[in-house]
Amino acid sequence: MKIFSGNSNLPLAEKIAEKLNTKLSSLEIHVFSDGEQRIRVIEKVVDEDCVVVQSTSAPVDENYMELFFIIDALKRSGAKSVTAVVPYLGYQRQDHVFRDGEAVSLEVVAKTLESVGADKIITFDLHSIKIPEVFNITISHLSALSIFAEKIKQIDGSDMVLVSPDEGGIRRIKLLSAMLGNMPVAVINKDRDLATGKVTSDGIIGNVKNKTVFILDDMISTGGTLKMASKLLKKKGAGKIFVFVTHAVLSGDFKNNLSSPEIEKVFTADTIFVPDDKIFPKLEILSVAEMIADSLK
Ligand code: R5P
Repeated sequence: MKIFSGNSNLPLAEKIAEKLNTKLSSLEIHVFSDGEQRIRVIEKVVDEDCVVVQSTSAPVDENYMELFFIIDALKRSGAKSVTAVVPYLGYQRQDHVFRDGEAVSLEVVAKTLESVGADKIITFDLHSIKIPEVFNITISHLSALSIFAEKIKQIDGSDMVLVSPDEGGIRRIKLLSAMLGNMPVAVINKDRDLATGKVTSDGIIGNVKNKTVFILDDMISTGGTLKMASKLLKKKGAGKIFVFVTHAVLSGDFKNNLSSPEIEKVFTADTIFVPDDKIFPKLEILSVAEMIADSLK
């Protein structure tokens, strides 16, 4: 097996290769002055099973194009199979038409990945469990929940509750609850204005009073959801609030929104590389490299 990496999450790709007792195979990636990329496979890959690691986080389109070109180059060079490890699958939030006239961006991405020759995709904590249905190739849908469960077990707190900041996350908190001996759960009623992106809430189902709260979500983008959720939880009498999110998208005004004093700590996975200028003191990053390596074995 040969492992290649795009430029979006090299540290994770290196960790995966290390866990598999190997090194990343080299690629020549040249970016022209107008931004176009030329990709060339240097090593022989004829009849090899190849893996490409690339998170399609920001710059989303650039990272997707790089992934498409790497897969195309591998297939043209005779690779037997190409597994795309896409720990964060960009455009997953636009998996259907929400309002008349919208594009289904994820379907466009799926068709392109298939047509350039991806044989399998390994990804993490998709926004919806229906997303694999958009693809005609195998999707291995992994989750960071077991890593989060281990971390939660290490945190002191007698009365604990898992909170989903929206109804879409109910399945996710039920799974985590089962891993934690049926820890109680609560759900926030979240509403998002699709035109402005602003999030509001009209309440919470479940008891959080005086409890240590673990908010679980698939991603933090602007942090607007977490700011709304943590303020509402404190209003309802919650104790310490810890946040667990798989994908640190970290866009827009996230630093301001996450600096809210209600939040003790934010745990995330390394499905997206977090550059130094986006690191903030409350952030702790947990690695999914071993899980990916295991699934590639
Ligand atoms: C939405 O349904 C997702 O599960 C996240 O809650 C959302 O994408 C987070 O976005 P933001 O941080 O911008 O509120």
